[in-house]
Amino acid sequence: MPAIEIRPDIYWIGVNDRTTDLFEGMWPITEEGVSYNSYLILDEKKALIDITRNTQEANLLAQLQGRLDCHELDYIVVNHMEPDHTGALRVLRSLAPQATILCSAKAQAMLKDYYGITDNVQVVADGETLSLGKHQLQFHMIPFVHWPETMATYETTEKVLFSCDAFGGYGALRGSIFDDQAVDLAHYEREALRYYVNIVARFSQPTLNAIKKLGGIEIAVVAPSHGLIWRRDTKRIIELYRQWALLATNQPDPGVTLIYGSMYGNTEAMMNAVAQGISRAGVPVEIFNAARTHASYILPSVWTHSGVMIGAPTYEVGLFTPMAEQLRYIIEKRISNRKAAFFGSYGWSGGALKTAKQLVEPLKWEWVETLEFQGRATLEQLAEGEAFGYRFAESLKPQQGVIPQ
Ligand code: FEO
Repeated sequence: MPAIEIRPDIYWIGVNDRTTDLFEGMWPITEEGVSYNSYLILDEKKALIDITRNTQEANLLAQLQGRLDCHELDYIVVNHMEPDHTGALRVLRSLAPQATILCSAKAQAMLKDYYGITDNVQVVADGETLSLGKHQLQFHMIPFVHWPETMATYETTEKVLFSCDAFGGYGALRGSIFDDQAVDLAHYEREALRYYVNIVARFSQPTLNAIKKLGGIEIAVVAPSHGLIWRRDTKRIIELYRQWALLATNQPDPGVTLIYGSMYGNTEAMMNAVAQGISRAGVPVEIFNAARTHASYILPSVWTHSGVMIGAPTYEVGLFTPMAEQLRYIIEKRISNRKAAFFGSYGWSGGALKTAKQLVEPLKWEWVETLEFQGRATLEQLAEGEAFGYRFAESLKPQQGVIPQ
């Protein structure tokens, strides 16, 4: 999409990436894509805010050169050093050596480490302002959203917040860039949650700090570096991020993420019985096959539900390997404060349950109940599994007289 004016003199000149399979080399985006939103302010001084990854540098340059010659650029604002926003910097520097890079003190050191850039770099301080003419930029440090050097840039005349990773999401832009034009807002919100849990969730407290810090600013447009630009309902994406960040410490709403794996269908048969019980209790349940679904899609469910049901067979006296892999992702994201239950089939000796409990021990999950069975479950055992699922779901409901957090 060619440049789009989002406010007078302020342009989105982002690029859609539909060819990268793995974001950060590990999170699948083959189907969804991602956008790297760059912005251009054309005033007496001309500023580019955020760049793009190296594989997209030609597309960014085409966007940029559609509006000005690189030699006319006065400033390049580097809000965040992760290479999805800076990969094209070396080429851009060679085409626009006169443009001063504006960044935080920590980013200055990283510019040298990543790109060997030391000249014409100006460090900005928290709260510092810079006039472009009619427009003025103000810089706000938001460390660890997502790296320690990260800042947000606020354009004070039109009240546009260039928030970089904060309030961003996966998903290449589908022909419109604004929240009020997106007919599939639910898709973008779902991808924003997946992005949050995959990329930002480990830094939930810094996210809350950033939201509090930026709360004193009047914001007319939230312009992140990934995903939709929010102008009709700026509070919506900020509040979603706040709610997601709070889940790092608060109990989510009642609901079950049921992750299962099965070698020959025996654990899967029990899974269906357990799911039946959960549904009978009227509690939402999302079901994922550990061997077939990337953790990227499972983590948002675990993050937003109070219960985790693990269904896995014993494999070589331990836990079914794809399930162990899923649990490692959950541990990496430090998703604690959950109720858990386990079921699974074993052939001649158990081991899956013991390994699962050992693996997630750092998360201090509350194990409500477990159910192991040998070989194929009988009809009686399946009925037991249904009741097991029901009881677990019931345990997630708020207790009478207890005020939820
Ligand atoms: Fe979009 Fe932390 O990079």
